[in-house]
Amino acid sequence: MSKSLEGLQASFAGESQANRKYLAFAEKADKEGFPQAAKLFRAAAAAETIHAMSHLRTMGGIKTTAENLAEAAGGEHYEHTSMYPDFIKDAEAEGDKAAIHSFKKAMDAEAVHEKLYREMIADLQKGGTFDYYLCPVCGYIEKGSAPEKCPLCGTPKERFEKF
Ligand SMILES: [Fe+2]
Ligand SMILES: [Fe+2]
Repeated sequence: MSKSLEGLQASFAGESQANRKYLAFAEKADKEGFPQAAKLFRAAAAAETIHAMSHLRTMGGIKTTAENLAEAAGGEHYEHTSMYPDFIKDAEAEGDKAAIHSFKKAMDAEAVHEKLYREMIADLQKGGTFDYYLCPVCGYIEKGSAPEKCPLCGTPKERFEKF
């Protein structure tokens, strides 16, 4: 791999992380009563997204939608069948309950994400209109309509976010 490509991959990862970190920091700043700091965090978070997207485009990381769906499904598959199970084992060995909880919460939702991506691969040319409903607590997604309660974490229907 060229040094340029290595740099693009590392920058994409770093800028993507900075984006999420700044959004979390903005939320905290709001809670602490510092709305101006929150504003700066949100503006900078948006800037990091611009940088991340540019790096991803430049490294050829955005392909056709069919290819992108396959890549997304593969990534989700890796996360819930390999990455999280390994991390959970390590965290169990260390008795880190908070880490185990965070990993498990994500792992179960990733399995659902993979299923939805695979369905979309099959449905891509069929068309049809429907919405997706996201659990804001655990990241579970339901197609069509929100469940009465999140099947993974019990969050009530009213809190689901529609896409
Ligand atoms: Fe996911
Ligand atoms: Fe949930």
